[in-house]
Amino acid sequence: MRHFDFKDGEMFAEDVALREIAETIGTPCYVYSTATFERHYKVFADSFKGIDALVAYSVKANSNIGILASLAKLGAGADVVSGGELQRALTAGIPADKVVFSGVGKTADEMRIALTASIRIFNVESLPELYVLNSVAAEMDVKAPIAFRVNPDVTAGGHEKISTGKKENKFGIAWSQAERAYAEAAALENIEIVGVDVHIGSQIDDLAPFEKAISKVGELISRLRTNGHNIRSFDIGGGLGIPYGDNSITPPPPDQYGAMVKRLTADMDVEMIFEPGRMISGNAGILLSKVLYVKEGEDRKFLIIDAAMNDLLRPALYDAYHEIEAVKAPGSDYEDISYDVVGPICESGDTFTKSRELPEMKAGDLLVMHSAGAYGASQSSQYNTRPLVPEVLVKGSQFEVIRKRPTVEDILKTETVPSWL
Ligand code: LLP
Repeated sequence: MRHFDFKDGEMFAEDVALREIAETIGTPCYVYSTATFERHYKVFADSFKGIDALVAYSVKANSNIGILASLAKLGAGADVVSGGELQRALTAGIPADKVVFSGVGKTADEMRIALTASIRIFNVESLPELYVLNSVAAEMDVKAPIAFRVNPDVTAGGHEKISTGKKENKFGIAWSQAERAYAEAAALENIEIVGVDVHIGSQIDDLAPFEKAISKVGELISRLRTNGHNIRSFDIGGGLGIPYGDNSITPPPPDQYGAMVKRLTADMDVEMIFEPGRMISGNAGILLSKVLYVKEGEDRKFLIIDAAMNDLLRPALYDAYHEIEAVKAPGSDYEDISYDVVGPICESGDTFTKSRELPEMKAGDLLVMHSAGAYGASQSSQYNTRPLVPEVLVKGSQFEVIRKRPTVEDILKTETVPSWL
């Protein structure tokens, strides 16, 4: 069931008309559906019922504390990649013992904060990082629980820029060095080996690469146990793809993914950890925008809208497709017109789509970009001094702003002219 759908000729988010949100909050803004977030989380978590599993939502996909709080209530943990994300997760009420800390470049300060909070596990990505963690833990007189993120050299992921599990990627411990890394970790006083971690990429539309990675890690776990390591957890990262409305990929539904993981890990005797991001948040949000101008080019029509690449970077960065719809449902006899949909930023890359067939639109009309709940607001910037757009959370007939639009004064307050000028 879609929670962004038409009722009486206009699009609603659950029971709230998007037009009402635009009139109250202004555009552009992100609008999220609580019901969709909850449904996605439950569908995912339910597919692992009956096994020992932690669903650690990947905070980077959509890190608003309002969203994190709603997932916390359902029992979610968090996968964080910075001290800032850790602070978000804890502020939103996610217990520290459900937090896993990933990322190739954790600083000593971030490690200290995470050890003070007593997080569940550090996913360590290199030996130099391991030694820093050991010395921070020694200073604090604690043991740091770790898994190594290993790089299984598996090809996966929807775009070159989001593939992470190949040997040329910067992520994880090289497969051939994994056993040596565990041996080195075992010799360190303030490190406790707990598990193994992988994450092979994002927007993956096929179970095969997951199967390959899980089987390889299964063999590694057996070897590590033979070498005397007490491996209790297996974190398989995130990466399950979602439909974006262009029918280019049909990702496997979460229950098929769940059944596959259960089948392959049944004899491993490990607690499973999952780090889904996009699967939970992607289709739980839209970007709501207004047409500023319709411009007639020589051979095309441009819809110049008030959202731009700084608000939703995915099309510019990955040539990503987002379904676009007008908020007002077109009449039955409409004819599509081909538009290039572009933002106001001074770069040709500020193009959401080219030659998209849409019902005729005019200045002032509202439109939505679908599937913008993941890597939308969390990847936005203030380029061109465009204040970050607000985020609005809907639940039934209620809605509330969960991130305010800063004023330009707010932005300028963080900057100073040097005294010596
Ligand atoms: N775990 C780790 C260690 C990750 O690096 C990521 C995503 C995830 C989990 C969550 O992956 P997901 O389930 O969302 O695929 N900005 C890009 C995606 C970058 C993904 C980065 N890592 C995009 O907009 O497509």
